[in-house]
Amino acid sequence: MLSGGKGTRLRPLTFTLAKQLIPVANKPILGYVLDQVAETGIKEVGVIIAPETGQYVKEYVQDGSRWGFHVTYISQEPLGLAHAVKTARGFLGRDDFVMCLGDNLQGKGIAPLVEKFSGEALDALILLKEVEDPSKFGVAVLDSKGNIVRLVEKPKTPVSNLAIVGTYLFTAKVHEAIERIKPSWRGELEITDAIQEMVNQGCRVKAEILDTWWLDTGKKDDILAANAKILDEYIKCEVKGEVVNSTVEGRVTVEKGAKIVNSSIRGPAVIGENCLIENSFIGPYTSIGNNTQIADSNIEYCVIMENTLIKGVERLEESLIGKNAKVTKNSRKNTIKLHIGDYSEVEV
Ligand code: G1P
Repeated sequence: MLSGGKGTRLRPLTFTLAKQLIPVANKPILGYVLDQVAETGIKEVGVIIAPETGQYVKEYVQDGSRWGFHVTYISQEPLGLAHAVKTARGFLGRDDFVMCLGDNLQGKGIAPLVEKFSGEALDALILLKEVEDPSKFGVAVLDSKGNIVRLVEKPKTPVSNLAIVGTYLFTAKVHEAIERIKPSWRGELEITDAIQEMVNQGCRVKAEILDTWWLDTGKKDDILAANAKILDEYIKCEVKGEVVNSTVEGRVTVEKGAKIVNSSIRGPAVIGENCLIENSFIGPYTSIGNNTQIADSNIEYCVIMENTLIKGVERLEESLIGKNAKVTKNSRKNTIKLHIGDYSEVEV
């Protein structure tokens, strides 16, 4: 389970959090990926962590018993996905394994892939998905029978619109392939190159095309899209908190201790534990973390993390707000006052 990396495109949140832990529908994306691993019956999980953010991953995953597995933490400098496999070689031994990216979630789950991989005695199984901008991903070129002809990491000229999704299954033959590859132009040992090497060596490598959704949460807009998708897929109507003189429509979860007063909540949305929502409208596709207070504001299509205060904001949309933040209206007209962290982005 790859849960390292720098998360530079998600700063400043990633100064104090691993990118895999940014919550969607109030749960870290990594949690959903671990749920999918648990469904396979896998009992041993190696979690790759970065020196800077590993502690946050450890705090969340702990010993893995919540998912019924045993966890080994492996620290890695971010030098590529194949480098992560290389770093984990001692842990992996000669076993077959699944490699998942902790910030990638796909709607199919992992269990059917494990079944196909062992059923067909493959050496590698990768998942592909048609995308509009293949230059952001590793891509695969297939022949008319669906066999892999070529794999290219971040192609500058389009060779295929089939992106490699972050769920991979391998036998130990991948280790020999990794030994033979060299770092790419971006200085990383690419898993894409290792799989190409396996194809070149005549290993049994297959690709399956994903016919459902895939979320790759590298940037703010990806997080918001993931939040919307997860709210659509997973959120139930469940009001455990208190609703006073308010309307709650559609699929909305209001966690325990939360209080909604003189407000309107339109789902899909989730309101975390002990939140106070007053004189406000919380629109579709919004997740509000625990202990957050919202007053006199209208909010839609946002991820707002815990312990935050939002007050007097007429309309807040498409925003990702970290823990312990404050967004309030000041009394002077046409004035914006900011106290924001490094690498923050504000659109006014
Ligand atoms: C990595 C892989 C790429 C794959 C992508 C999926 O890219 O190198 O082949 O398509 O994950 O998210 P990176 O996140 O390192 O840019």
